[in-house]
Formats: sequence, C-alpha cells, structure tokens
Amino acid sequence: MTAFKGMDILDGSQFSRPDIDRILDVAADFDRRLEEHLSLDLLHGYVLGTLFFEPSTRTRLSFETAMHRLGGSVIGFSSAESTSTAKGETLVDTIRTVDQYVDLIAMRHPAVGSARQAASVARAPVLNGGDGAGQHPTQALLDAFTIQRERGSLDGATLVLCGDLKNGRTVHSGVEIYKNFNCRLVFVSPEALCMPAEILDGLRRQGVDFQETADLAGAIQKADVLYMTRIQKERFADPEEYERLKGSYILTRAMIENSNPRLTVMHPLPRVSEIAVDVDDLQGAAYFRQARNGVFVRMALMALVMGKI
Ligand code: NCD
Repeated sequence: MTAFKGMDILDGSQFSRPDIDRILDVAADFDRRLEEHLSLDLLHGYVLGTLFFEPSTRTRLSFETAMHRLGGSVIGFSSAESTSTAKGETLVDTIRTVDQYVDLIAMRHPAVGSARQAASVARAPVLNGGDGAGQHPTQALLDAFTIQRERGSLDGATLVLCGDLKNGRTVHSGVEIYKNFNCRLVFVSPEALCMPAEILDGLRRQGVDFQETADLAGAIQKADVLYMTRIQKERFADPEEYERLKGSYILTRAMIENSNPRLTVMHPLPRVSEIAVDVDDLQGAAYFRQARNGVFVRMALMALVMGKI
C-alpha cells in the first residue's frame, strides 16, 4: 500500500485497490465515531485552505465540514473575483502565498492540470477538488464509498455512467477507481459527449470490461448502479451545441419502476434536469446520502495525508 503521509491527491489513477480499501475503511470508521459523538480531534492545530476558483457547494462545504469535524480550522475563498487573481496574480503565486499560511490545500480551478501545477510548488499536500474537465478524485472516492454503502460491494456490480462523459471530471476519476474492482462499466452518452479516447484506450490496455451505448433505457435494465451526470454547460465553446445536447437524458421514476426497481441512482450534483424530482423519494435514490458521504471520505483523506492515522 502507498504511504499516504504528505501525498497530493490529484488523479483517480494514483490509487491501488489496497489504497482505496484503506481510505474507505477509515471513512467508515469516522462515520461510526461521529455517530457516537466520539472525539475526533486528529487535526487539532492544523489549518486547511480551500481555494475555489470555480463554483462549488458540496465539495467546498464538505471539505470544510470534514476539517471542522477533525478539530482543525479553515481559511479560504469561494470565487476568484475576491482574490488577487482579479488583479492578474498567477495561480503559482497564489499557491506559494497560501502555502505560507496552511497545512493542507483543497482547490478547484477551471484549468486542467492546475492542481498538479499547484502541487509542484506547494509544501502542503494539495487535494484536487476539480481541475476543469480533468479529474475530481475525492468525488470518485466518495462515489465508490457510496456504492459500497448502498450495495455492500462494487465487485460484481454493473455500473452505468450516463450524461456528459466527455467533460465530466467525476466520471474521469470514477473509472480510474472502478477499474480496481471486478465490475462492468457501461458508458451512456450522445456521441458528441462520449468518454475521451485516451481514457478508453487506457481501460482497454488494462483489460477493463466496458461498453459504450446511447441507449439509457436499455442500460438501466442490466444496471445495479446508474450514475447520472450534468451536461457541463461551462465547458461548451458553442452555446447552441449545449442547447442541442442539454436534454439528452432525463431519468424519470417510471423508467426505473417499470424496468429495474432495485436500481441505485447516484449523481454528484448539482442536477439540472437529468433526474426528475419524482425519483428523489425512491429508496434507491442515493444522491443526497452520497453528498453526506463526502464528509467522511474527505475526513479520511485529510487524516491520512497528514499522517495522523
Ligand atoms: C461535480 C463537479 O464539480 O465536477 N460536482 C461536485 O463536485 N459534486 C459535478 C458537476 O458540476 O456537474
């Protein structure tokens, strides 16, 4: 197993199966201990910087909650306009500065590769909370945790990933995590939004079982987990292309009840229109529980990279 202390969390592909099992076990333990109101002051005296250059609700707030739950404190910002970026400061200079103040950095930025660039100059471990259409590894780990929670195991499961697989960073990191398990992957998207070729090539090279289709209804029938994603409006150069594709898939309660009532439905959120609200009170609708799980998984990651467990 990799030594976690001091590690940057940048990419879903950096984890082996034992690493993933360790992170998910620690997360489950933290959940139990929080439930019993046991003290979890592992990061007392440590400061997390949350540097969010792009909009976020769950990722930033769950990182912050996780740090508070571990007894640490948080500084940060939630939009680039309020920082010296607006005066022309480079990302590297901002990171070099914040690195003087904090012990850990969680960041989100519109440029692919930005977290890696930050990690190359920061002394503090960097946790990538999304770099453009690149990676979002902490989300992928909390997604794996959620599947384990909801269904017992990822091994043997058929996972259907649907929506904007081209621009969706949660699914880019997701496949790098899921490939460590014995599961089948089905990618559902319009052709214009399919999984990037380099990711598919990597999966082929590693002998991962996957298939691509545009047929959501067909995929639902054989799915254990359906992971819906938002069409990533902010990544489209052409607004008309977005208008054409935005309604590609809309999951309704009837689609599930009539074909696969045991389906687990996930979504990293925010949703726009891709899951009808009538799905929300189905037992298998796991997306708000999934958001809650983000706290435990981020607690686990921060305690591990700070070498406290
Ligand atoms: C996702 C993201 O920012 O990539 N949200 C999240 O972190 N929970 C998904 C999205 O914005 O569509």
